[in-house]
Amino acid sequence: MSNGTTSQEFWLFGYGSLIWKPPPHFDRRIPGFVTGYVRRFWQASQDHRGTPEAPGRVVTLIERSYWEQLKDHHDSAPERVWGVAYRIIPGRVAEVKDYLDIREINGYTIHYTPFHPATGVDLAILPTQTPIKTLVYIGTPENDQFVGPEDPHQVVDVIFRSHGPSGPNPDYLFGLEEALNELSPESGDGHVTDLSNRLREMMAARRVPTPDPSPSLPQEHHFRRAASVDEQEETEKAS
Ligand code: BEZ
Repeated sequence: MSNGTTSQEFWLFGYGSLIWKPPPHFDRRIPGFVTGYVRRFWQASQDHRGTPEAPGRVVTLIERSYWEQLKDHHDSAPERVWGVAYRIIPGRVAEVKDYLDIREINGYTIHYTPFHPATGVDLAILPTQTPIKTLVYIGTPENDQFVGPEDPHQVVDVIFRSHGPSGPNPDYLFGLEEALNELSPESGDGHVTDLSNRLREMMAARRVPTPDPSPSLPQEHHFRRAASVDEQEETEKAS
């Protein structure tokens, strides 16, 4: 293949909960970024961080050329969308794809995008050529759960009130902020930070304690977290 990965290799890009809730059966986890997109809390969540009656908000990627035509309260966005690429162990790919199709449905569809590893990643764990072709789940503007631009105060109000099978929506926002800050000195995202700051202010004003930071992932970016798909499903729902 032209990007240097072999046809046996399957890489997945995570820009949301996948950063700190890895898929099962991966053997490499690499921090880095994709370009041409903007990350926004513009996807309603009925199945993870909300319910059909009271959907929460989670992130999706917007094509940058489309986003530039919109009126967004956050009118700037980094050129690089930081996240993590996972290599799935050959032989477990079909199983993991089935698992992801269930975990990530609710409006998201499959796309492919080139992934650029962060500077300083051990070359021994990379394919011979980069960028790496990665599969990514995106909630495009055509999907039913796509919300589009909202006032940040409104988004934070929804997040504050929402809770779903995977846990409270505030934990998702704070988890994303923290996970991004751990990837690289450059990987912060102003949209995520602004919403997190607003949510902290809202919780302080209502005297609601903010959650403790979740335990960090190990710093070496090639390890396996879950022994099985069942075990991973448990982790996603229980947190
Ligand atoms: C992500 O973490 O990249 C992700 C998770 C669920 C749906 C879409 C993206």
